[in-house]
Amino acid sequence: MPNDPGYFPHSRADIIQIALAGLTASPKTLPAMLFYDEEGCRLFYEITRLPEYYLTRTEIALLTSIADRAIPDGLRDAVLVEFGGSDESKASILLDRPGSPFTAYMPIDVAASSLAASQARLSARRPGLTIVPVVADFMQPLRLPLFGSPAVGFFPGSTIGNLDPVSAQRFLTSARRGLGAGSWFLIGADLRKSPAILLPAYNDSSGLTAAFNLNLLTRLNREAGADFDLNAFRHEAVWNDGESRIEMHLIATGDRTVHLGARSIVFREGETIHTENSYKYTPDSLAAIAERSGWALHRNWQDPDGLFGIFLFRYQ
Ligand code: AVJ
Repeated sequence: MPNDPGYFPHSRADIIQIALAGLTASPKTLPAMLFYDEEGCRLFYEITRLPEYYLTRTEIALLTSIADRAIPDGLRDAVLVEFGGSDESKASILLDRPGSPFTAYMPIDVAASSLAASQARLSARRPGLTIVPVVADFMQPLRLPLFGSPAVGFFPGSTIGNLDPVSAQRFLTSARRGLGAGSWFLIGADLRKSPAILLPAYNDSSGLTAAFNLNLLTRLNREAGADFDLNAFRHEAVWNDGESRIEMHLIATGDRTVHLGARSIVFREGETIHTENSYKYTPDSLAAIAERSGWALHRNWQDPDGLFGIFLFRYQ
């Protein structure tokens, strides 16, 4: 990719293929993975600091308060494997614990340049730590070079909420196989709650989430040679109670034809591109999916307001 060498998928052909698969489907979709180009990563970071977006600060406070208990007892020379770990700040809460059992950290992420920056920061701070960044889509089954060390998987941020239940089960199963027998999995997930709290988190008053959503079209214009008119689409987030998920959409505000690759894609006024699902779990519903994937719930915690959950699973 000439514009963003650090980001995955790398080739223009890949992006065109992925985008066309979604835009020629009915209803139209685009995968949330495409949000995270350089500008998308920056906008998401800004979102995490919004007053309405309670997820990140709640998870960090909860993780900090339980860190000692969240690391399983009796581990030595363990490796922390972070799925979607483009930023080491949450992992650092575990890695920096006095008496931490971790001697290696393996972040897996599609954003190569973020991984490199994170490796540079961490290795300066923790010279003894072995850091093994893996540039990959963590949804793809991975053969992890685990050096025979006990593994603790780490999947914070409620990223699991982006996956529909079938994909979540497939991911949890393949992560279990990759991490291996005797491993643990620490997962942070946003909990089901009132739409009065959920909707503002995805429809913030400063418009950052709208910019994050619309940046997908800017990215396709730049990296796939598409010709989306940015003024002809608007952001919308809705709560789908039956599916227990927030959905983000880009809605065409008028009839439009967009060209991408060799195709012309016709939009009618009001037609939407479904760009993201953010599933909200109850402790029971998350434990049930994990258990169907071969993980046993060991412990779980939530913040005092019951907004966010952290779950420790074991594969025996
Ligand atoms: C990073 C997937 C957890 O679903 O809350 C933030 C992404 N989308 N605002 C989420 C996101 C809109 C975020 N995750």
